[in-house]
Amino acid sequence: MSHTSSTKEVPAVGAIPKHIAIIMDGNGRWATKRFLPRVAGHVKGVEAVRGVVEACARRGVSYLTLFAFSSENWRRPAEEVSLLMRLFVTALEKEVAKMHANDIRLKVVGDLTRFDAKLQAMIQAAEEKTALNKGLTVTVCANYGGRWDIVQAANRLQQDLSAAGKAGQAIDEDQLSGYLSMAYAPEPDLFVRTGGETRISNFLLWQLAYSEFYFTDTFWPDFDAAALDLAIASYQHRERRFGRTSAQVSEQSPAQESN
Ligand code: IPE
Ligand code: IPE
Ligand code: MG
Repeated sequence: MSHTSSTKEVPAVGAIPKHIAIIMDGNGRWATKRFLPRVAGHVKGVEAVRGVVEACARRGVSYLTLFAFSSENWRRPAEEVSLLMRLFVTALEKEVAKMHANDIRLKVVGDLTRFDAKLQAMIQAAEEKTALNKGLTVTVCANYGGRWDIVQAANRLQQDLSAAGKAGQAIDEDQLSGYLSMAYAPEPDLFVRTGGETRISNFLLWQLAYSEFYFTDTFWPDFDAAALDLAIASYQHRERRFGRTSAQVSEQSPAQESN
């Protein structure tokens, strides 16, 4: 089942976010500040991922989505790109067994065809190994772009419509969102960006339509469980309305659905 309409029901104020999506930014500046090569920041960043995954699992978050490499990050110097690819391989080698032991399901989304064959095979194996796990779902967005996602969804939907003899038929939001690469997850409740920038950088454009945004100057390598708790606490104080008035939302029971 896809969860394409998670902006219809207003979750209770104070609830733990079901889905947290994070732009892990500031690795380079973390390193530069310490007179270290940027690479050192990325290595430290992987450690921060481990901490945040554990903290989300402990706090009962259901989906954690991490922007690891954007479709624009290929523009970086070749050495940095290849280091990031090597780190990705090492992280898979080291972490997948641990994730599996902790009942974590791993998904990797993005245009994976641009990665080398070995990395693609490792990703596939990791996804297959953890596919039936029932704990936290961790999604790593790699060579991901929000615009790419919407376009690939439109193309696949169009192909299916043509195959069904319905080419040219008008489509609706639920149909299209069912083809997005994260159709298995509800939309993010909480969007976090570390590193001080206040932009989306082509992350989950469609799915962030009604997410709560949280920006922090903390560089990603310093983002620990306590920093995550601050983000969650900020989320818990907000009243989500999805277009309604505040009075309507406070009258309504949390799970009640209306249009
Ligand atoms: C985020 O940190 C990691 C990736 C984009 C892969 P950056 O590498 O963007 O760090 P800054 O923004 O240069 O500090
Ligand atoms: C966004 O960070 C992508 C990831 C964290 C993977 P960037 O550091 O690449 O973003 P911009 O280009 O500065 O907006
Ligand atoms: Mg950056």
